[in-house]
Amino acid sequence: MKMGVIALIGLFLVLYQYHLSTGVRFEQMNDFNGGGGGGSAEESPVLSQEDVERYVRTSKITEEMIKNAVRRVQETSGLSPDTASMLVQELVNHLHRNILEAAAENNSRRSRHEFARGNGTIVEQRQRAAVTLLAEPETVEPLYIITPTYRRPEQIPELTRMSHTLMLVKNVHWLVIEDATVATKQVTRLLERTGLKFDHLTAPMPEKYKQKKGAKPRGVSNRNRGLQWIRANATSGVFYFADDDNTYDIALFDEIRKTKTISMFPVGLCTKFGLSSPILRNGKFVGFYDGWIAGRKFPVDMAGFAVSVKFLLQRPNATMPFKAGYEEDGFLKSLAPFEPKEIEFLADNCTRVLAWHTQTKKNEPSAPLDMKLYGETNLVKLKLQIV
Ligand code: UGA
Ligand code: MN
Repeated sequence: MKMGVIALIGLFLVLYQYHLSTGVRFEQMNDFNGGGGGGSAEESPVLSQEDVERYVRTSKITEEMIKNAVRRVQETSGLSPDTASMLVQELVNHLHRNILEAAAENNSRRSRHEFARGNGTIVEQRQRAAVTLLAEPETVEPLYIITPTYRRPEQIPELTRMSHTLMLVKNVHWLVIEDATVATKQVTRLLERTGLKFDHLTAPMPEKYKQKKGAKPRGVSNRNRGLQWIRANATSGVFYFADDDNTYDIALFDEIRKTKTISMFPVGLCTKFGLSSPILRNGKFVGFYDGWIAGRKFPVDMAGFAVSVKFLLQRPNATMPFKAGYEEDGFLKSLAPFEPKEIEFLADNCTRVLAWHTQTKKNEPSAPLDMKLYGETNLVKLKLQIV
């Protein structure tokens, strides 16, 4: 019953939003192009790049409206978050399909007309540009996510959770780097299932650090391997060190994209203060808030900063030191020349927590399976999926 009402609201929303978006857009387009006489689509010139961009922007606004409307329904009717996000996805997909179909139809009508006037080539060029833009509403610079990971009972669940976050982000390239000599098969399979662009690399922690008592430089060889990959393969975009056990708000990734040099933002659940963040007073940087300053120039968490690829490439010696507790500081200092006053502050001037240092509870490795008892059961297959 409830689902029925929701589905109806959904349908209404699609029709209403679609009417709003396409209606407004086509009128606008005719207005922009109306100079040459008659307002009909048949007579107006082909979409300019600018028109297409406007078109794409409007569809983005419509998407936002869908999200807000569903959120309101969710709040008032107690709709589950899963159903709400399914509904949003369905409506947005529908909207995109409709927009694409309408645009294609519009273009082919116009191109037939233009072709008759002998402007075929230009039309074709413009049309191609329009279709590319519409098919890929946003051509954004790549985001390289460098994730150190290692084999343990929590590895697959952590990476599952994280992959589902990244699947919601545009143009991500996930560098998953295992602290191991051989890559874990289950991890490769998981990565393949995500449909994300990824590279699955290995970078074991050197023996001398492994043998060390006390705090170890966790994830450092992995991250340095990631940097090496970026130097060899990337030319633009932004990279971010995202440990596999943290929680990331998808809004973080749109923030990070803005990074021109080094950006910083708050991290929740971090140190005894429960928070690690640059401190701003009247929009001006005045220091760092972190439960563990320890003489660091940049007392921030690994999840609290992002770096532009170009900026890194201009610093061929930048590297992360194998120094437990000082990895972030050491790496940021190796990106010199760079001073705290040059930091780009993201997440609305560091007023929003978009990354969390969650720290999953450690689990004991699972007990071996008694093959005499269970050798011919489903448990054999299940045991292969857990550590
Ligand atoms: C904190 C910081 O967030 C890390 O960036 C820093 O490396 C670490 O402290 C440190 O100073 O040693 P924390 O949550 O304490 O991290 O450490 P983990 O989450 O256990 O490890 C950080 C990353 O390295 C994770 O992505 C983890 O999968 C990976 N890791 C950990 C390895 O690759 N190998 C290991 O032996 C342990
Ligand atoms: Mn961690």
